[in-house]
Amino acid sequence: MNLTLDDFLQLKERQVLITGAGGGIGRALISAFTAAGAIVSGADQDRHCLEDLQLRHRLVFDLANRQEIEDVIKGFINDHGAPDVLINNAGFTRGETLDQVNSDTWEREVAINLNGAFHVTAPIVDAMCKRNSGSIVFISSVNALGHFGNPAYSAAKAGLISYVKALAVERGRYGVRANAICPGSVRTPAWDHRLKRQPDLLTKVLPHYPLGRLVTPEQVASAALFLASEAGSGITGTALAVDAGLTAGNLRFINDVLAG
Ligand SMILES: NC(=O)c1ccc[n+]([C@@H]2O[C@H](COP(=O)([O-])OP(=O)(O)OC[C@H]3O[C@@H](n4cnc5c(N)ncnc54)[C@H](O)[C@@H]3O)[C@@H](O)[C@H]2O)c1
Repeated sequence: MNLTLDDFLQLKERQVLITGAGGGIGRALISAFTAAGAIVSGADQDRHCLEDLQLRHRLVFDLANRQEIEDVIKGFINDHGAPDVLINNAGFTRGETLDQVNSDTWEREVAINLNGAFHVTAPIVDAMCKRNSGSIVFISSVNALGHFGNPAYSAAKAGLISYVKALAVERGRYGVRANAICPGSVRTPAWDHRLKRQPDLLTKVLPHYPLGRLVTPEQVASAALFLASEAGSGITGTALAVDAGLTAGNLRFINDVLAG
């Protein structure tokens, strides 16, 4: 039998919902799932973020607003059923170090990155369980695996990995899988505010990365595609680093301390 890539992925005509669809990684996710033949819907915090995207349905909610999320997601499930694949991709951080994190920063970043993702996911998982199938991918971060700054965001991203494990263990019997991806630095609009402050910043980032380059949005998207698809159907409860080797060890320690 001649198997095609479509046979491996089995994403043709599958309903996929992607949050943070208008962002750098969101756009790459839309391209990847669309190329695999999926029917892609996107969510973002305002309609303007979704305007120029090829999407079947456009959902608008602020991840810090529980009621808004619940209303929109409930309406989506009532009208279209549970998506086959949910990609929790939206994220936000501004509190770079502990000195920049007060109670308000902490609560806002945990609300958006952890609580918001839960409010999106929980009703969709309930509907997936009733149907006995579904796959969820969370875009977490290397910040969940070690400290690279952004303490409140990191706590939230680590919380997502715990949630992934809970979903994998308790909802696997209903045919639902959940996994996380932990990207290293990716040059997307998420970096604009830092580059505005320090235009040469990326040259300082590169020496930390064993592959000598940053991960691209497309590389994050293809890992999400794999985990969400039939090709990844044996995998649930994992956190996959897509980080150009950052968390494999400490390259700067090798170069600065040992190699010389
Ligand atoms: N870029 C990186 O270096 C990097 C590294 C690791 C993890 N990530 C994660 O990847 C994901 C995508 O990030 P990106 O790099 O594409 O950033 P981005 O800023 O380009 O996109 C983030 C998206 O999330 C949406 N969003 C932000 N706050 C929201 C809110 N309150 N309600 C609803 N939507 C909201 C934004 O509108 C945007 O579309 C995020 O979860 C981010 O934490 C990014």
